[in-house]
Amino acid sequence: MKVLIKKGRIIDPSQNFDFVGDLLIEEGKILGIERNIEIQEKVEIIEAKNLWIVPGLVDIHVHLREPGEEWKEDIETGTKAALYGGVLRLACMPNTKPPNDSPEVTRYILERSSQKAYITVYPIACITKRQEGKEITEFGRLKKAGAIAVSDDGKWVQDSEVMKRALLYAKNFDLPVISHCEDMNLSKGGQINEGYLSAKLGLKGIPACAETIAVIRDLILAKETQKNLHLAHLSTKEVIPFLRWGKEEGIPFTAETCPHYFTLTEKEVENYNTLAKVNPPLRTEEDVEAIKLALKEGLIDIIASDHAPHSPLEKEIEFELASFGMIGLQTLLPLSLNLVREGYLTPLSLLEKLIINPSKVLNIEPPSFKKGALAEVIIVDPEEEYILTEEIIQSKSKNTPFLNKKLKGRVKKVILKEKVFDLSLV
Ligand code: DOR
Repeated sequence: MKVLIKKGRIIDPSQNFDFVGDLLIEEGKILGIERNIEIQEKVEIIEAKNLWIVPGLVDIHVHLREPGEEWKEDIETGTKAALYGGVLRLACMPNTKPPNDSPEVTRYILERSSQKAYITVYPIACITKRQEGKEITEFGRLKKAGAIAVSDDGKWVQDSEVMKRALLYAKNFDLPVISHCEDMNLSKGGQINEGYLSAKLGLKGIPACAETIAVIRDLILAKETQKNLHLAHLSTKEVIPFLRWGKEEGIPFTAETCPHYFTLTEKEVENYNTLAKVNPPLRTEEDVEAIKLALKEGLIDIIASDHAPHSPLEKEIEFELASFGMIGLQTLLPLSLNLVREGYLTPLSLLEKLIINPSKVLNIEPPSFKKGALAEVIIVDPEEEYILTEEIIQSKSKNTPFLNKKLKGRVKKVILKEKVFDLSLV
């Protein structure tokens, strides 16, 4: 069966295309893109006037919680949320229960994904056993089992010698090393950003320097080992000059931020709102502005969701006991579109950070509209305004400070291989 998408704004960063035209798909593959395609045979036509036609997004920072915490999320619900968010490939973090520090867990995730996932799932394995920061996992066996990268996300590899060895060891297997940048001695017991607000609320703060020191150490190690390092979820203005330095030095690294760090400030937790408790914490207006400028300057290469589901059991409790994290798969695109609306990025440069650069980190071919590529197509209404209700959220967990707030920009349809999903029905 052929599908013809008509008169949409086709934006494909893999080919630097941004024009109004038609996209033809046959048997789950891209057959062609032209300004106008007419065909005589039987075809399913999708009208896309005023809509964007974009390759599927690639999110390299997602917590699917399976195995072990399926009351928060599982592979089926997490990947359904991804589909609704326009994310057609994701990499899942290894801080599951048990953590993904063995080929058995990696294989389990892949097997469950082949049965349950709506989209492509790439497992990330731990850097160290049990994420304890001491003993490095068996990268070769993990890669063979299907791991696409290594990370101790949720924790920093505090011991510099262990991290240096991990970078060197990973080089042998072409595995990217993803660092959760947080000096945990400095952040210990911290709840929110350190500053006036933490003092006022009587909550222990997490200082910006906990992130900055971690970033500097990791950059120095990557300079020494010349191994690809990926810096996850950056949140502070303090790190920006060091990213600039690292790029100037030619250090092989990439940097990521998440929509909440360029959208929200610490003000969100003023009323002890646990939905806005996240690690690293929401920072100040100055940090938000600096992160946006770093995205514009190209110092931050990637936008990822850090989708971190938690149930009411972990969130509807005292602030200090509540877990860190917020869901993000369905807010990734609408919030990122604000960067285009505000003039920081063009549609193409935004999609580079949501498709091309994350694919490069994972060493995969990015979703694309090149002839013969797999059909991974999202149709987006960038102007649609709606309230993010619990019904719209496809995750098991609803923990987001954007719950019941207005969003702008919505994925209307997805064409994934041979399936067409109509998402405007919820
Ligand atoms: O807020 C966070 N939640 N930050 C992390 O690094 C981990 C994540 C989680 O797993 O809940």
